[in-house]
Amino acid sequence: MEPRLVILSRGPELYSTKRMFEEAEAAGWSVQILDPLKLTTVVDNNGVKVFNKGWPVDCDAVIPRIGNSITGRGVPIVKAFERMGVIVLNEGDGISSSRDKLMACQMMNERGIPVPITANVGTWQDTRRAISRVGGTPCVVKVTEGTHGSGVFLAHTEQQARQLVYQMLERNMRPLVQEYIEESHGQDVRAFVVGGKVVAAMRRKARGGEFRSNFHLGAKVEKLEIPDKHSEIACKAAETMGLDIAGVDLLESSRGALVLEVNSSPGLEGIEAASGVNVASKIIQHLNRIWEQKMAPDDSSEVPTEQEVNDEGTSEAY
Ligand SMILES: Nc1ncnc2c1ncn2[C@@H]1O[C@H](COP(=O)(O)OP(=O)(O)O)[C@@H](O)[C@H]1O
Ligand SMILES: [Mg+2]
Repeated sequence: MEPRLVILSRGPELYSTKRMFEEAEAAGWSVQILDPLKLTTVVDNNGVKVFNKGWPVDCDAVIPRIGNSITGRGVPIVKAFERMGVIVLNEGDGISSSRDKLMACQMMNERGIPVPITANVGTWQDTRRAISRVGGTPCVVKVTEGTHGSGVFLAHTEQQARQLVYQMLERNMRPLVQEYIEESHGQDVRAFVVGGKVVAAMRRKARGGEFRSNFHLGAKVEKLEIPDKHSEIACKAAETMGLDIAGVDLLESSRGALVLEVNSSPGLEGIEAASGVNVASKIIQHLNRIWEQKMAPDDSSEVPTEQEVNDEGTSEAY
């Protein structure tokens, strides 16, 4: 029987979901796309089970594509599949910690991965102190859990930064004041890591005066031969976050590459177009490797040969 893959996605028509669906089917998986928010999980004395419209979801592997806005509701579903013993790429803990920019920054810093100097400000009156810690204005003010560049601002003055911090605190957000990496204004490097290797890379360049280089804000993407040092940092960042599949964003600063963020559901459209690499297939190849390992007979349970039994007998006798 074909192995069964579930892609958890709210958008079956999205480029990335479709590409993974196609490549997985081509590799012999039976694939279903399920909306994570429409699934029901039941916890009882036998453990956890996931149901779709009343039917148990039986599968061998899950690829979660959990959007930023549903992290809190999506991660427990992902973890339910983990508890059922299914292969999950990426696991829930990795998704959670990489989503929180403050948490991610701290974890990477602890592992010696270079990151921009970042302050989490608890009160707007501390903004000036935070700015001076991160090297003065202009500085970047951002929300800890944003995406597509929507919660990221360049503050040119302390007054602007204070206002941004104040507004975020008022909305119960945790504002970050971050060192502005002027050398990479409007640009960043996306390294796409699968199974501990960079499989594709691109440079993203913002249009016009925009300082954010998000693909969703219309940035241009171009192929990049990524330097070994950048690759090494990107792989270490993905590993630190515990992610099999990661889009690692790097800023090229005068003191070397800094990891800006690690995305656990990186889009495939920009990277496949820019690099010419079939990234979806790389993901499925990685899944196949894990699946084959799981299916391989366990050596330790093999029946010993006659020779092995005799050898053991001999060594015991002496
Ligand atoms: N500290 C910074 N210095 C320079 N540019 C930055 C900085 N932080 C963010 N940017 C720019 O803004 C973009 C979006 O920031 P990011 O923190 O990745 O937020 P999001 O999660 O919304 O993508 C980055 O890709 C980069 O181009
Ligand atoms: Mg980003």
